[in-house]
Amino acid sequence: MGRTIAIAGKGGVGKTTLSGLLVEALRRRTGGPILAIDADPNATLAEVLGLQAETTLGELQATTLANIRDLPSGVPLGRHIEYELHRAMVEGDGVDLIVMGRGEGPGCYCAVNSTLRRCLEALSSGYPYTVLDNEAGLEHLSRRVSQGVDALIIVSDGNPVALRAAGRIHKLVDELKLGVGHRGLVLNNLRGDLGAKAESVLEDAGLPVLARLPHDDVLEALNLDERPLSDLPDDHPALGIVDGLLAELLHFN
Ligand SMILES: Nc1ncnc2c1ncn2[C@@H]1O[C@H](COP(=O)(O)OP(=O)(O)OP(=O)(O)O)[C@@H](O)[C@H]1O
Ligand SMILES: [Mg+2]
Repeated sequence: MGRTIAIAGKGGVGKTTLSGLLVEALRRRTGGPILAIDADPNATLAEVLGLQAETTLGELQATTLANIRDLPSGVPLGRHIEYELHRAMVEGDGVDLIVMGRGEGPGCYCAVNSTLRRCLEALSSGYPYTVLDNEAGLEHLSRRVSQGVDALIIVSDGNPVALRAAGRIHKLVDELKLGVGHRGLVLNNLRGDLGAKAESVLEDAGLPVLARLPHDDVLEALNLDERPLSDLPDDHPALGIVDGLLAELLHFN
């Protein structure tokens, strides 16, 4: 059975960067294949991974919806969506990526969405590891995109506003009974210690801190140059920190 790690947090705190580092550390440790899912409509995970997504699942879904009445009888919707999932997949070296995109066009996506969720679950169970990069905010939680994942990592930088948002996500996961396994906070992009205000908000949030990633000029430069994380050398400190985090979450060794 595959293990799934989902990432959540306020806008711009480093969710996609951490998702990419998790994929990269898993790939280097296990050789893959890792399934990466970009569930943010404003998708950027492909760039971080150095892959090019030709199409999004949202676009393919829209076609399914438009043609749903024309499906030959006897072809179940699930079979059709499974086919589209494979069409939307980009294959890299030890990493396969699916970009969800956004649902396009008018109409109700309920049937397609619930079938899609089941198909994605089935797909990810065929991979030893899946990493799910979510959009900023809380919406994806109520849509239950991260339901039942083995680990939910909430990311925040040292800003009290982002830490408060992390606390809200933590609370909502309980309220919605999303049934996630491990849950904790990764503090990212830190420049020195947290201030007193941030420390107090962190305490109120009641989330265990799983790892701390400092501000990293190399990560920043890669991003500015649009270079993938696979360019990082094996001994890059951020990869070491994320590998340690994985060892703790997934009980490696
Ligand atoms: N530890 C770090 N050190 C330096 N720069 C970082 C670090 N983490 C993230 N960044 C930079 O911060 C910016 C935002 O990061 P990223 O895109 O990962 O955030 P996000 O939470 O996914 O944003 P969004 O909410 O828009 O999806 C990027 O330019 C990224 O390179
Ligand atoms: Mg992002």
